[in-house]
Amino acid sequence: PPARSDRPAAHVPSMDAYRSMYRESVEDPDRFWGRIAAREFSWETPFILPGDAAASASAIASKPDAESHANGNATTAAAAAAAPAAADPTKVTSQQSNFDVRTGPVAIKWFESSRTNLAYNCLDRNVHERGLGDNVAFFWEGNNPEQASKLTYRQLLDRVSRFANVLKSFGVAKGDTVGVYMPMVVELPIAMLACARIGAIHSVMFGGFSHEAIAGRILDAKCKVIVTADGVFRGEKVIPLKHIMNKAIEHCAEQGFAVTATIVLAHLGNLPEEEKRSLDRDWLKLEAEASPDCPVEWLEAEHPLFMLYTSGSTGRPKGVVHTQAGYMVWAATTFKYVFDYHPGDVYWCTADCGWITGHSYVTYGPLLNGATSVLFEGIPTYPDAGRCWQVIDKYQVTQFYTAPTAIRALMKFGDEIVARSSRASLRILGTVGEPINPAAWLWYFNVVGEGRCPIVDTWWQTETGGFMITPFPAATPCKPGSATLPFFGVVPALIDSQGREVEGEGEGSLVIKQSWPGQMRTVFGDHKRFEETYFSQHKGYYFSGDGCRRDEDGYYWITGRIDDVLMVSGHRIGTAEVEGALVGHEGVVEAAVVGYPHDIKGEGIYAFVTLAEGFKFTPELVQHLKLDVRENIGAFASVDIFHEAPALPKTRSGKIMRRILRKIAAGETDIHSFGDTSTLADPNVVEMLISTRPGH
Ligand code: PRX
Repeated sequence: PPARSDRPAAHVPSMDAYRSMYRESVEDPDRFWGRIAAREFSWETPFILPGDAAASASAIASKPDAESHANGNATTAAAAAAAPAAADPTKVTSQQSNFDVRTGPVAIKWFESSRTNLAYNCLDRNVHERGLGDNVAFFWEGNNPEQASKLTYRQLLDRVSRFANVLKSFGVAKGDTVGVYMPMVVELPIAMLACARIGAIHSVMFGGFSHEAIAGRILDAKCKVIVTADGVFRGEKVIPLKHIMNKAIEHCAEQGFAVTATIVLAHLGNLPEEEKRSLDRDWLKLEAEASPDCPVEWLEAEHPLFMLYTSGSTGRPKGVVHTQAGYMVWAATTFKYVFDYHPGDVYWCTADCGWITGHSYVTYGPLLNGATSVLFEGIPTYPDAGRCWQVIDKYQVTQFYTAPTAIRALMKFGDEIVARSSRASLRILGTVGEPINPAAWLWYFNVVGEGRCPIVDTWWQTETGGFMITPFPAATPCKPGSATLPFFGVVPALIDSQGREVEGEGEGSLVIKQSWPGQMRTVFGDHKRFEETYFSQHKGYYFSGDGCRRDEDGYYWITGRIDDVLMVSGHRIGTAEVEGALVGHEGVVEAAVVGYPHDIKGEGIYAFVTLAEGFKFTPELVQHLKLDVRENIGAFASVDIFHEAPALPKTRSGKIMRRILRKIAAGETDIHSFGDTSTLADPNVVEMLISTRPGH
């Protein structure tokens, strides 16, 4: 992009700069991350840089406001430099981590022996140490374009402190879990930060989840205190959050678990009498009555920050656990470099806080950088498909981050509606969630960005905490559809079907070779499952579940999930969860769910169902099955195509051959293109399903 004279130089201005920083980050991660951590965050008890007191001292010397701590009890790594040499100086990093199940339990630890608090770093540090109190943290843009508000860092600190006191008044203490089921309003990050401030662990549940999905999450994490709202409008549709939460809580009670309090935000302000419960407390009233003084709880680096449930190949969704210090350093550093954030920028990420993107790049990454963001309650097509471009002009957005599915949906409405806006403020465009097809990439680049704005196609996962493979906007030459090159500290590798590392160009299963600070630490309540899911396929590597190709320039091209996980409109859904919902119906004896290419959603959901004796494949039955999936998971997991399958293609040992079902779902009709079918117990089943495919 043409350099703009009024902007400071990019944080990573060239490929040479990238390569030299990358080299250091992987060769000496202790020093690399230690220096960043010392310079850019506040620590109550600093970690010790490995044998390198001079490095920490000089890092601090370049920090203008290191001495001025408003509340006096946090210190920076300056103290580390001044402290007498420690007996055990290697406390930063992965040297403490074990990645290999063969050498003992997998244990990931960063910045051990230190204490910090992520909410302090998001708020108090910005207000009291960096003089950003009057800067806007969030411009809130309502679903209704006439509703908007803003919140400065000082106001945010005040509200978070009060709400933290509210949580404490319900007995929430360090280590307790809090369930959060909220619309995209400022109270959502406020609830997250209030938990972080007192060392409680938040479990945010996406507003699109059904009551059963929520009940499962509340039960798994034993969330006694729930934070929610009456409801929300998304486009023209109302989502009755409190009604759904009431049903979830009843469900928990049936299972013997009692929620003790529900703190309810009156967002719509018209909660019907029949949805009120005795456990309900009025959020805004409690907040107004609470003290704005809430001392920070200093937490060990590895104290859990949050859990966020995500889908895998098998079983129920897993609670992915991230911890304070490593996640903090990762979310902040990836945000700073990949969005090349500078003071004065206005950043907008359209993701919902119910997903990891909303945790790392709506809440924590931007706030840790003292950034100004837009928090958007609505949807890109309401009141019309020009909404995003209007919002960009309204707030003079400089960085815009969204998902390929949104880009494809908006592309359908044509260029003219985009051209009605100026978008002159835009500098960087970002995408996440699924592979972006080159046509959508080019439209985003040429029409939305008018060829001026680099696109950062960021590959990462709930488990990774933040960006892993991504361009650096002022440095990395882009190729449409490629997430390009690894972020600092990330060492990707491809494993072929023989279990060997692919050298140079080639394709394989994408793994990561060494620990990075933002890595998940465990599956909540099930460390074994953590080891089995991520470290047992390829010993000594973190297994991502994605397939990937590396080209002649060393660029990475994600080809999609190679396990039984679907990415539908960027939402991650386990086929086993959908199948579980379908076989819950008495009329279904067996179900197999696969993804198929879908123009807008990327992947659509295709369900093969085998019916029980006496049941007919009627529109009514299909309607029931649809509802069952919605009730079990949520509307975003709706099945697109149902296919009655009197039998499923199976191996002689009875295993469903999903590879074949994927071909049928994709509309392929030539059995010769199906790959090896010799292990099929009954080859006729395939012909039968091809000829009965809906729309065939
Ligand atoms: O398949 C990859 C896809 O999203 C999966 C992770 O999903 P989730 O944990 O819900 O996090 C989504 C937001 C980070 C990955 O395994 N994915 C994510 N980003 C990309 C992507 N696929 C291709 N390109 C991307 N940029």
